[in-house]
Amino acid sequence: MSQAQPRIQTLAIIGLGLIGGSLAKAAKRAGFTAHTIGYSLNFSEVKLGVELGVVDAAASTVEAAVKNADVVVVAVPVKAFESSLLEIKPHLKSGAILTDVGSVKGCFLSAVKKVFGEVPGFVVPGHPIAGSEKSGVVAADANLYRHHKVILTPLEHTSNSVLNLVREMWEACGATVLEMEVDHHDEVLAATSHLPHLIAFSLVDTLAGEEENQEIFRYAAGGFRDFTRIAASDPVMWHDIFLANHDALLNVLGRFSQDLDMLKRAIEAKDSQTLLGVFTRARSAREHFTKILSGQSYTNTMNTKNVIFKMKAGGAVNGVIRVAGDKSISHRSIMLGALADGITDVEGFLEGEDSLATLQAFRDMGVVIEGPDEGRVRIHGVGINGLKAPPGPIYLGNSGTGMRLFSGLLAGQAFDTELTGDESLSARPMERVAAPLRLMGANIESNEGGRPPLKIKGGQQLKAIDYNMPMASAQVKSCLLLAGMYAEGETRVTEPAPTRDHTERMLNGFGYTVKRDGAVASLKGGSSLTAGKIDVPADISSAAFFMVAASITPGADLLLQHVGLNPTRTGVINILREMGANIVIENEGEVGGEPVGNIRIKYAPLKGIHIPEDQVPLAIDEFPVLFIAAVCAEGETVLTGAEELRVKESDRIQVMADGLAQLGVRTEVRPDGIVIKHSKIQGGVVHSHGDHRIAMSFAVASLIAEDSITIKDCANVATSFPNFVELAEQVGMNIEVGA
Ligand code: S3P
Repeated sequence: MSQAQPRIQTLAIIGLGLIGGSLAKAAKRAGFTAHTIGYSLNFSEVKLGVELGVVDAAASTVEAAVKNADVVVVAVPVKAFESSLLEIKPHLKSGAILTDVGSVKGCFLSAVKKVFGEVPGFVVPGHPIAGSEKSGVVAADANLYRHHKVILTPLEHTSNSVLNLVREMWEACGATVLEMEVDHHDEVLAATSHLPHLIAFSLVDTLAGEEENQEIFRYAAGGFRDFTRIAASDPVMWHDIFLANHDALLNVLGRFSQDLDMLKRAIEAKDSQTLLGVFTRARSAREHFTKILSGQSYTNTMNTKNVIFKMKAGGAVNGVIRVAGDKSISHRSIMLGALADGITDVEGFLEGEDSLATLQAFRDMGVVIEGPDEGRVRIHGVGINGLKAPPGPIYLGNSGTGMRLFSGLLAGQAFDTELTGDESLSARPMERVAAPLRLMGANIESNEGGRPPLKIKGGQQLKAIDYNMPMASAQVKSCLLLAGMYAEGETRVTEPAPTRDHTERMLNGFGYTVKRDGAVASLKGGSSLTAGKIDVPADISSAAFFMVAASITPGADLLLQHVGLNPTRTGVINILREMGANIVIENEGEVGGEPVGNIRIKYAPLKGIHIPEDQVPLAIDEFPVLFIAAVCAEGETVLTGAEELRVKESDRIQVMADGLAQLGVRTEVRPDGIVIKHSKIQGGVVHSHGDHRIAMSFAVASLIAEDSITIKDCANVATSFPNFVELAEQVGMNIEVGA
């Protein structure tokens, strides 16, 4: 990190303790400053600073420290801001920059205003979010700010060059710099730092005051020690911070006291619902923060991670595996379980990011959900009218199913909601659900072109409609049936072709009658749901990758266990069989109203076909990998009537054609499909466009490729098939994950 030319000639630190000393040391080590000079009320501290190499020179007065300095850092306790600034002001040379490191920004600014009469453009308030319970210049550590955040709170008239230099100084120390408004900074810090310190001091003091305190402390193990570590911090410093950030701290302390009282009452009343609600929400929020802190954000997956699959050419496909739980059924199990009366136990739940986003949304709407724990989830249903307003927008990640089903379910609630998603979801069409919901009386606003976010106004009395769907979509059908539960009258949805019917089956399973009459599904509003047990089978859409993998790999013999075989989902089996695949279904049965069975697939030479259009909605998610089968099939495969593929997580016709072109496979793209001729697959680099199914399809292609394939942007595989890589390796594929 060493600089060619120091950016700061002289850096003065006023108040040379842990924070100021660490900055001096780090800036010096990075070559960012030519000369550092320290001042402290206690001169022996600064002399020690010189001996330890923290600063180059010791100043015995503020004047001596400041007069030649280009940047002056005020690192004194917050209550000494005003007196220090009064001493600094007369000696600041022209062009000097003034910044600070205090935990409360409002009080630094008021001190600056008092002393200078205004906030001059050369002042940049700053706050490094780093520290330790140690104090003094002896504890100065050049690594203290590495991988930590520094918040700067510039004002409108702060000079850009001043701001940039202070930003660069912190970056040279290894920190990430953020900008924030002053008030916002003080509120955030009150909640995330000041309140926890206050509670730690208070808890230790309460326990120390108990008569048997010796006993308590002797036996106080992990939890107590972890929780109260920060009670060893500098009492005077924290006293000053609590008083300086008085307003923001009182606000958050008020909210915390109310919640603590609520817990006390819940314990008195043995109210398990409230207790479990708080604990399960807190635990999942904590896990969520842990992921954010370790850089593997659960939200914004596409922007924050760049997972790459490196596939070696060739490999085998043998063995016995059970693929991840069905995504469609997992979403619905949480939704209906939450709205049911009683407890619903789910097994085989898909712990993928899409269905986890649905689970989190219901927690945010007041539903107690235990787990997931190895696919087991326990939902404490709140009844059809028991949801509460969420605290903020509901983030649904990559999930189109989530957004469309939620829009129906939320249109009839008493409260307002906003549905948001990642970059891919934000580009997907929502008018297909918003338009019919508006016909039912819902109040929904979207972005231009019917794109998310969706703002749903609560308190509307919905009325049943008789709707002819313009496209074959299970998501639109399900959305309207869910809204229909809250509507007056009988909601009827006619589909142009059969689509997956998990919503209808599960509603009936929960005792809410859905009728089926030819192409029409209908239900009456105003009934209720009764909790039950749900066994989520393995997802046939995830199984499809391995079905194609085995079909195209000579010598392959694979058994896929307990796969959902709902006839509205088995298009992939029908299509592959027509192409000549060797697929045998064994152990057929039914769990919770859904057909299941084991699928055995062996290698077989494939031939090209014209895919029957009636199979398209029944295999809608499986086309990317069926295109790989088509490349291996003798002759020509033609797909028509599949324009829906263009509005999935990516434009799956174009993105697959582009990827195949990179691998030397030429295809003919049509508005509603594609023509694929038998071809060799070369090696190369392909882009999945953040679409999980594209990424996994090209992974399968590597089995018969002539050279290795690199697949970019694969993080979203975790949305539907979090253990894909593990299972691919297990059956004999050569997959390596990079970043
Ligand atoms: C789904 C329906 C399908 C499918 C999606 C899941 C569902 O979408 O592509 O992955 O769970 O209802 P459409 O109904 O929009 O075709």
